[in-house]
Amino acid sequence: MAPSHLTGASILAAIALASALSQRQAGSTSTVDLSERYQTIDGFGFSEAFQRANGIVELPEPKRSEVVDLLFNATKEAGFTIMRDCIGSSPNSNLDWMDTILPEGPDSPDGELEYVWDGDDSGRLWVAQQGRQVDSSAPGFTKSNGQDSNGGGVCGSPGLYTEEGVEIAHLGLLNEPDITTNHASMRTDGAQATDFIWWEGTQDSATNNNKNEKLILVDGGDYEVDKRVWAHAQYSRAIRPGAARVGVSGGRNMKLAASENEDGMIAVNVISAGQGAAAFAVDGITAESATAWVTDTEHDMDETRATVGEDGSVGGITVPANGMVSVVIQPR
Ligand SMILES: *[C@@H]1O[C@H](CO)[C@@H](O)[C@H](O)[C@H]1NC(C)=O
Repeated sequence: MAPSHLTGASILAAIALASALSQRQAGSTSTVDLSERYQTIDGFGFSEAFQRANGIVELPEPKRSEVVDLLFNATKEAGFTIMRDCIGSSPNSNLDWMDTILPEGPDSPDGELEYVWDGDDSGRLWVAQQGRQVDSSAPGFTKSNGQDSNGGGVCGSPGLYTEEGVEIAHLGLLNEPDITTNHASMRTDGAQATDFIWWEGTQDSATNNNKNEKLILVDGGDYEVDKRVWAHAQYSRAIRPGAARVGVSGGRNMKLAASENEDGMIAVNVISAGQGAAAFAVDGITAESATAWVTDTEHDMDETRATVGEDGSVGGITVPANGMVSVVIQPR
């Protein structure tokens, strides 16, 4: 409609719309502050404790490779670098238990210990080994920081896994922190166990018949990918092990995080709590280039538009309602 045809009411509406847009745009610029430094990121991961890994091992090909790729591959999938494993403490693997490597105690305090290692650990060793093999073209992959956290985890059978080519990065004392259950658990004050938070990597519906804790349902020779995989991938692929979380402010109705990767790439992660799509820009960095990815009901970490101005400003990004965007910026 040409300006000369605008009625009084539509002019008012147009002014209101323009001012709402400029407010929204002003409110959705975030400013990164690289001088404000927080924790170093070990990586992002998932749990294959108990016998969940067997579900992956038993999948027919090519589905088995697809699930391994979904979890570990940082090119287009989740790019996880930590797997939570466990040292079994049960006499056998009935009832979803995890075998101990020391099923019989010694006869006397200085008696011989007879270790029994089945080279399998209910499929967990195999899955951890796949993590070691999946290579990544993404910046700053695990090995670059000497951490080797692929296949590492909160528990693990350290010596035995090392012999099988998997390094254990972190060793924790507990399975279920401070609860008493009918499976492996132990009561302590639980303080250290809260250093790690993870999701169940894969589950079947017989063992865990709910929809609110797994990344991938593996069942009946098939698998189903939950949106959670992509919500985690938005972080895991943009923020690689060794990255430092840095300051970021702004963003209307948005939850923001910013990180500086070891190779200098800056990641800005946005979660929208708003009911409408919002334009988004990043201040505080002079960019050489920028790439953005989006996850919402229609997208699974798909690449989306981001523009870099001649002055190095980053903008042109749309954050959808109830969606997430990761922007990875190469500074000048
Ligand atoms: C990771 O995924 C990319 C394509 O998305 C593929 O080219 C590459 O082979 C995958 N890596 C492995 C080890 O499967």
